[in-house]
Amino acid sequence: NPIMPPDLNEGAACKIAVEPNFTDPEFLKCCPPYQGDATLVVTDYTFPKTTLRVRRPAQEVAKDSEYMEKFKTAIQLMKALPETDPRNFIQQSKIHCAYCNEAYPQNGDVNATISVHSSWIFLPWHRYYLHFFERILGKLIGDDTFALPYWNFDNPDGMPISTIYTDPTSPLYDAFRDTTHYPPKIVDYKYNYVDRELTDDALIAENLAYMRKTFKEGEPLPELFMGDPLRAMENPSLTSPGQLEVIHNSIHMWVGEREVPHRDMGTFVTAARDCIFYGVHANVDRLWSFYRARRGNRVEFNDRDWLDATFVFYDEEGKVVRVKISDSLNTSKMCYTYAESTAPWLGAVP
Ligand code: C2O
Repeated sequence: NPIMPPDLNEGAACKIAVEPNFTDPEFLKCCPPYQGDATLVVTDYTFPKTTLRVRRPAQEVAKDSEYMEKFKTAIQLMKALPETDPRNFIQQSKIHCAYCNEAYPQNGDVNATISVHSSWIFLPWHRYYLHFFERILGKLIGDDTFALPYWNFDNPDGMPISTIYTDPTSPLYDAFRDTTHYPPKIVDYKYNYVDRELTDDALIAENLAYMRKTFKEGEPLPELFMGDPLRAMENPSLTSPGQLEVIHNSIHMWVGEREVPHRDMGTFVTAARDCIFYGVHANVDRLWSFYRARRGNRVEFNDRDWLDATFVFYDEEGKVVRVKISDSLNTSKMCYTYAESTAPWLGAVP
């Protein structure tokens, strides 16, 4: 059976999140504000009919001051929403925490919590998460063409953290990062809290070769690229993440604080409190789109347990909506696309 969304109607359905590295329980209260609300209505999401939003690389939007003003204003407005508003910035980050850190039991069973990492759920769940986040931002500035930027970490030009995130006076800034990895440092796809002694050129070449290998090996094998099957009531600690998720995990670690508890990006509880999260995930999502296109948009898993897996999110009005993986496969249905950027790794020597 497919994973079903959390039951939001039961007062006791959502639990305090689990993350042993956090001693302050405030961080672990990730349940949504509508939890247990008797008037709660969950409806099937009506896909928008707005113009195509075009997500551009961060290194490019950095030069577009008009866009940057909009983006910063939107984030600022989101941060300023009352905490009881599900579209508030911190509330949005808690959606990620709740879905990742064992807050939602399946069928009331606390030993079978919903988890959106380390399996075939990873890419589609995060696609929807960004979709709603992006639409909320657009709504707040009254611009239904607003699109998130992507951190183009698979392109040598984009391998350092984009400067759009590193200005301490910007609403896109986050204080909990490893600043020794600030530009011009090159990201390391194999980072695991140890800085390797490599020249920039050597690191760029390694990254490109790794990305190429990920695509080459993963193209015929969606499980390898996207992650193992995960069905209702199964424990995700027994499934493996796909190669793309593994690279993304290193990027999380590389950005977040080096010390425990690795705020913000280095741990699921707080990762989405850093605006850079949405830039990383936009690129992960773009790489998935690229992967799909290379496979002629063939469905990766012809399996109802994947296609019918269902989640709930808040739409831009703050309403709770239900979405299925099968409806996430076509990005034009979701009204967004990616501006092209070269994929130099396609030709790099493995
Ligand atoms: Cu849900 Cu980048 O993690």
